[in-house]
Amino acid sequence: MDPLFDFDAPPDRYAVMGNPVSHSKSPQIHQAFAHQTGQRIIYEAIQVDAGGFSQAVGNFRAAGGKGLNITVPFKQEAWAYVDERSERAERAGAVNTMIFLESGRVRGDNTDGVGLVRDIIVNHDCPISEKRVLILGAGGAVRGVLGPLLAEHPLQVVIANRTADKAEILAREFSDGLPIEGCGFDALGDVSFDLVINGTAASLHGERLPLPDGIVVENGACYDMMYGLTLNPFLQWGKAQGVVRLMDGLGMLVEQAAESFYLWRGVRPDTRPVIASLRA
Ligand code: ATR
Repeated sequence: MDPLFDFDAPPDRYAVMGNPVSHSKSPQIHQAFAHQTGQRIIYEAIQVDAGGFSQAVGNFRAAGGKGLNITVPFKQEAWAYVDERSERAERAGAVNTMIFLESGRVRGDNTDGVGLVRDIIVNHDCPISEKRVLILGAGGAVRGVLGPLLAEHPLQVVIANRTADKAEILAREFSDGLPIEGCGFDALGDVSFDLVINGTAASLHGERLPLPDGIVVENGACYDMMYGLTLNPFLQWGKAQGVVRLMDGLGMLVEQAAESFYLWRGVRPDTRPVIASLRA
């Protein structure tokens, strides 16, 4: 019998693993997707201690789990754990979605980049193609989204980071003939960008980035990969620069989840009502 209609069969189990994870909205998002699409799943949040990742994944698989989302700080460990990777996960150097295949192998994917791109282009109707894009930060969060962002054919991508070397190295890694370069914050100021994306952890600490005035064009946009109830310091900076399109990462969170859900279930949920209800 199709497991979807076998109401005696236990629902398929999924979870997000991270630390901390109690604040995660992923269970709420995936339950909403399941409800909307008629899929019978259970999705929980599992906090994993440092050093306990492999064991936790093994336990979850042994208990019949079908797939996992992986969040901070285990995405690189998840990359190393899996037996095979999608091309985008390979390039990202991080895995946020694990799929436990029937064969017993574990496939790793990364849906963060496609989640960011879909949120910007589709939900916010803000094109990336032929635009000048500035990305702030050069850590795992930025590495994770660079591939899908570059695939949209921006006119230019500049990665600016507190530690300039890291931005330069990252840009070189993704260059492959593409218009991407890395620099420190102090090298900004000569060019104005259509879209500025913050992928640093500065907002998390409530800190402002040392950004010069005038680096966003009129009608430009600012996107912060974090989300919150109020404008964080980066988006406040954008507002003070006169930027009208200010976007936070809530839509990215829902879109990366939708892509994971699609990978697991083969069904694409409608993200808009889920974003709206989380926003409310
Ligand atoms: P993640 O995986 O979340 O990207 P990470 O790899 O630790 O985490 O990277 C954090 C990013 O935020 C880095 O780009 C870091 O800059 P450095 O490479 O110079 O460390 C940036 N960052 C963190 N706190 C910052 C702050 N207060 N000001 C500016 N950049 C900051």
